[in-house]
Amino acid sequence: MHFHILTLFPEMMMQGLSTSITGRAMDKGLIDIEATNIRDFTKEKHGHVDDYPYGGGAGMVMQAEPIYLAHQHVMEGIEARGSKPRVIYMTPQGRVFNQEIAEELAKEEDLIFLCGHYEGIDERVLDMIVTDNISIGDYVLTGGELPAMVVIDAVSRLVPGVLNNDVSAEFESFNDNLLEYPQYTRPEEFMGRKVPEVLLSGHHKNIEAWRLEKSIERTKERRPDLYEKYCKDHNK
Ligand code: ADE
Repeated sequence: MHFHILTLFPEMMMQGLSTSITGRAMDKGLIDIEATNIRDFTKEKHGHVDDYPYGGGAGMVMQAEPIYLAHQHVMEGIEARGSKPRVIYMTPQGRVFNQEIAEELAKEEDLIFLCGHYEGIDERVLDMIVTDNISIGDYVLTGGELPAMVVIDAVSRLVPGVLNNDVSAEFESFNDNLLEYPQYTRPEEFMGRKVPEVLLSGHHKNIEAWRLEKSIERTKERRPDLYEKYCKDHNK
């Protein structure tokens, strides 16, 4: 099993995963973990990978290009082996991780994890590369690194030989209810994909309305359980 991680903190990931059972599994060649630093793929001379969000709002947004290039770089090695990996974005907006998902992922040969920071990632690159959105629960961490480590740990222990006793790897007993709207930052156009016109308008009421609409749309699609609560609260 090959794990590939796109992150701004490769040392943190490698240090965490090189210890204990996952570390031993790496030493034995049962799994390998490669962390790629997204910052190595910025073309900015000061090494920036983030910028202000279009339409305003708090915090910074990670730019599309360094992530796109880092992903391309990782894909070159994988495609040479003929594998077509899933790209997992660690986000509180994703499918809530559980043992069933761990078992499903353990069947893959390669997995790419995308770890975000700041207020989010430019939506366009997510649209282009991500196949799965996974959350580790309904709470917000400062970045996707710890969640990716949680998933990698849970999947690794299902790889034959990683645990000493074979049987224990099997299934053990074991704000208003709306998700965030999509975010965009510079450039205005990335590989033919434009930032939604309304965010460039400076018309705050329209931006707010658009964001609410997108939040509702997205919640309905990704978390129907939360959407149901939202509807009840608003008598819909
Ligand atoms: N990034 C920040 N919080 C997260 C969570 N709960 N799950 C996955 N990724 C995250």
